[in-house]
Amino acid sequence: MNRTPIVGISMKIYKNNSSEMIEYAENLKDRTEEINDVDVFIFPSMGTLYPVSKVLEESNVNYGSQNIAPLENGAYTGELSIESLIDLGANYVEIGHFERRSIFNESEEMISDKVELAVNNNIKPIICIGELEKDTENNVKEYLKQQIKSSLSKINIDQINDVLFAYEPVWAIGKKDSAEHTYIHKIHSLIREILKELFGIEYTESVRLIYGGSVSSKNAEDILNSDDVDGVFVGRFGHDIDQFFKIINLAREKNN
Ligand code: PGA
Repeated sequence: MNRTPIVGISMKIYKNNSSEMIEYAENLKDRTEEINDVDVFIFPSMGTLYPVSKVLEESNVNYGSQNIAPLENGAYTGELSIESLIDLGANYVEIGHFERRSIFNESEEMISDKVELAVNNNIKPIICIGELEKDTENNVKEYLKQQIKSSLSKINIDQINDVLFAYEPVWAIGKKDSAEHTYIHKIHSLIREILKELFGIEYTESVRLIYGGSVSSKNAEDILNSDDVDGVFVGRFGHDIDQFFKIINLAREKNN
């Protein structure tokens, strides 16, 4: 199965200055102009999403938000509506990042509502899953299986190919280095197995799985060196556009 490699970055709330983010987005737009063998996405911080969307609306770079409200509109003070996301021309959204689950108490139920909302509005959800601590392979499998099953519980089986999963072991987020690449490869193959067990191969073989958690230009090549890893989700080590672009190029080599 040939799945297009995909590389993305979340700025969390590290980069909140519009002019700085416009410059970053313009740079990314220019450097990816001729690139069509890898999908690239960016989730800017909420306050810079509008100016970044203006730069990227006519580009090869996909963009979106790090979260959405679980309903289209209504009494959800302080949240971003999917209606605004559509209005901004976005096509991706991050759902269920560990920081949302832990700091903002996002429940599995809420995550499944957000996934349903995104898929029904043609916005691709990147669903973050990952165990909290290092554990046995069996326990990790059970934990991820439950997260996957619950996140997809409100969509139809033929919509499963519209979602992407980001495997982000919580213990590897915000660290000096990623999880061991051999471990990442093993867990990605486990996730494929889980998807097959739950929904059958015909509905899941084109679902893309990316790894996130302290990805850098130093470890990305090894991480990407497996058929079960379709890309990477970058954080801090992509703040420097040259570094992020190096990682994008490493993912392109998967096609060659
Ligand atoms: P990090 O963030 O690369 O800075 O650890 C990754 C993430 O949380 O997605």
